[in-house]
Amino acid sequence: ALAAGVARVVYAVRDPNPLAAGGAETLRRAGVDVARADDDQVAAAEQGPLRAWLHRQRSGRPYVTWKYAATLDGRVAAADGSSRWITGPESRHHVHGRRQEIDVVVVGSGTRAADDPSLTARSDDGAPTDRQPLRAVMGLTPVPPDAAVRGSDGRFRHLATRDPAEALAMLGDVQHVLVEGGPRLAGAFLAAGLVDEVEAYLAPIVLGDGRSAVQGAGVGTLTDAHGFKVRENATLGRDVYLRMTRRTA
Ligand SMILES: NC(=O)c1ccc[n+]([C@@H]2O[C@H](COP(=O)([O-])OP(=O)(O)OC[C@H]3O[C@@H](n4cnc5c(N)ncnc54)[C@H](OP(=O)(O)O)[C@@H]3O)[C@@H](O)[C@H]2O)c1
Repeated sequence: ALAAGVARVVYAVRDPNPLAAGGAETLRRAGVDVARADDDQVAAAEQGPLRAWLHRQRSGRPYVTWKYAATLDGRVAAADGSSRWITGPESRHHVHGRRQEIDVVVVGSGTRAADDPSLTARSDDGAPTDRQPLRAVMGLTPVPPDAAVRGSDGRFRHLATRDPAEALAMLGDVQHVLVEGGPRLAGAFLAAGLVDEVEAYLAPIVLGDGRSAVQGAGVGTLTDAHGFKVRENATLGRDVYLRMTRRTA
């Protein structure tokens, strides 16, 4: 900024890394007019593309998004176990876009066994995209050698634990983890207070029976419900998309 002759800088987010901090002071000493953005701009920046990185820097653990696709009555599979596809092609296209942006996709052993998902990011024609997340299965059951999730690119991890915090630690220095279910794994992350963000893809259909999106989230009474604030909503084909972040207060 100095070399380019910038006269005024407005910033929204302080760098939480002590090694990189102090930029505003340096600029001020050199005569640049430096100001903090207003509260709305700060909030927008904190919620923007930097959110996972900021979270990692501040808390020392990755940012966790729980994603699911459900019916109007919150089911993620029908009574006979069928779940493909609850949502339409536009929602699935959106999911594959998100998989390219995050670092790791995680599912539980139950989903691995039920659906044998590959968890890769793919374009509409089914071809893998350039940027691929790590693919992880969490749970104590061994992952069979022929499981689709293993792939052949060395980007598969088996997280042989049932403890969500331990699973995140096993992933090392990653910023953004996408937990794609199923219901018991989602419940475990919610109960542990480790869901920072939720992405819900809601299909306008009703099943009435079948697995609900979450099981065992540690809630016994209404006042203990896990609360979220809606940050984004959109219509994707016939479906509704909601992005929410954890309500802390
Ligand atoms: N529509 C959707 O968005 C969506 C997404 C995913 C799945 N699904 C559906 O969900 C169904 C599978 O449900 P699910 O509940 O069996 O799947 P799950 O939550 O993926 O897997 C449950 C398994 O995860 C392991 N696990 C790891 N940590 C755990 C913990 N803290 N608590 C409990 N279990 C833990 C356990 O296996 P170990 O014994 O190996 O430890 C457990 O049996 C399928 O019908 C699938 O199609 C739907």
